[in-house]
Amino acid sequence: MDLTDSRGKPHLSGKVIAAAVILVICILALFQSSTNNAAMFSRHELGVTHVLVTGGAGYIGSHAALRLLKYSYRVTIVDNLSRGNLGAVKVLQKLYPEPGRLQFIYADLGDAKVVNKIFAENAFDAVMHFAAVAYVGESTLEPLRYYHNITSNTLVVLEAMAAHNVKTLIYSSTCATYGEPDKMPITEVTPQAPINPYGKAKKMAEDIIIDFSKTNDMAVMILRYFNVIGSDPDGRLGEAPRPELREHGRISGACFDAARGIIPGLKVRGTDYKTADGTCIRDYIDVTDLVDAHVKALAHAKRGKVGIYNVGTGKGRSVKEFVEACKKATGVDIKVEFLSRRPGDYAEVYSDPSKIYREMNWSAQFTDLEESLRIAWRWQKSHKNGYNG
Ligand SMILES: NC(=O)c1ccc[n+]([C@@H]2O[C@H](COP(=O)([O-])OP(=O)(O)OC[C@H]3O[C@@H](n4cnc5c(N)ncnc54)[C@H](O)[C@@H]3O)[C@@H](O)[C@H]2O)c1
Ligand SMILES: *[C@@H]1O[C@H](CO)[C@@H](O)[C@H](O)[C@H]1NC(C)=O
Ligand SMILES: *[C@@H]1O[C@H](CO)[C@@H](O)[C@H](O)[C@H]1NC(C)=O
Ligand SMILES: *[C@@H]1O[C@H](CO)[C@@H](O)[C@H](O)[C@H]1NC(C)=O
Repeated sequence: MDLTDSRGKPHLSGKVIAAAVILVICILALFQSSTNNAAMFSRHELGVTHVLVTGGAGYIGSHAALRLLKYSYRVTIVDNLSRGNLGAVKVLQKLYPEPGRLQFIYADLGDAKVVNKIFAENAFDAVMHFAAVAYVGESTLEPLRYYHNITSNTLVVLEAMAAHNVKTLIYSSTCATYGEPDKMPITEVTPQAPINPYGKAKKMAEDIIIDFSKTNDMAVMILRYFNVIGSDPDGRLGEAPRPELREHGRISGACFDAARGIIPGLKVRGTDYKTADGTCIRDYIDVTDLVDAHVKALAHAKRGKVGIYNVGTGKGRSVKEFVEACKKATGVDIKVEFLSRRPGDYAEVYSDPSKIYREMNWSAQFTDLEESLRIAWRWQKSHKNGYNG
């Protein structure tokens, strides 16, 4: 018998066995830590508020999740990435990798069974419901998509909250629920008469929430945002809608696309409105202020109460002013084309935000349009393909 051979073999298999044992230990440790992590989300913990952020891969939801994490909340994001970005979730995961801080669940809120399972397996203290489709123009072309993904999905979320005894809800609503009021500024008691499926779907969702909360001792805050712009001042997150949604896009997206030459220029539709310079007037609220309002709303939410608040600056800016700010912020002499009015646009929309100031000491701090756009442009410039680089 060859000694070297017979000694070599057991030696080798010993190494293999040792390696296998180490591997198994590693896998077990990983499994253990991941189950520990899941366990942290599945139990209420004294002093820790666990917030479900639906639509947390989207523009506003990701900024809200970032703020919640910064303020030591435990966050679960549910998003099916139909319009959001996994890249945004990855940024958050990198910033908050510790167990029990952030988890991402890929799921569709239209699937009641799945949503129920998520509520059964996680101990939520509150829900911030951002997930929605949110383009006025698209809503007039595909109304069912809006009633389904706004109204019906909100019902699914509410039913799951009821079944699992989650009592606090912060709901993303919109100034589009007011329609075309006769009087400006818009207060919370301005009658709601939405004029497009987006506004109507949001108004219906509000009504469902309000009716249900009356019977259920819930703590509800409905925030009606005006036109949201801007991005994280530290440049970690930005607004990156799907390219195919560009045509429905919002004015800030169009400004950046024009500055980058993706589109030939900006089209200003309507210069004969009864406003100082003839163009439409809107109230632009910076996303940093907006997420601040959400955190304050969460802190002020009270059982048996529904709080409804406008979230805006209270100051209207004309489209011409916006275009000037966009040119300065980007440093690009964007081509501007003046066209006739687009049907469905109304001359002037701006908020009276005094209620949220009175009751929650919230007011917009980022009121320099050019500065908000400059911050957003910085992210846009360094992320030419959105979160893909
Ligand atoms: N952006 C604005 O100016 C504005 C103004 C007023 C109100 N809002 C409201 O704010 C909320 C967030 O808007 P946003 O601008 O961040 O939009 P967004 O499209 O960037 O984000 C919405 C997110 O919801 C997710 N989502 C949609 N349907 C889903 C489903 N069925 N299941 C799981 N996830 C789903 C999308 O993937 C996306 O990540 C919306 O409710 C919108 O109506 C936005
Ligand atoms: C996201 O959810 C919608 C329903 O709201 C569904 O129609 C769509 O196919 C889903 N998308 C993905 C990528 O799962
Ligand atoms: C919304 O609902 C429609 C069904 O009406 C579906 O086809 C669509 O994929 C849904 N999701 C999104 C994100 O639009
Ligand atoms: C209200 O907010 C302002 C600034 O946002 C802050 O300086 C002030 O201390 C707050 N007041 C109260 C009573 O909390």
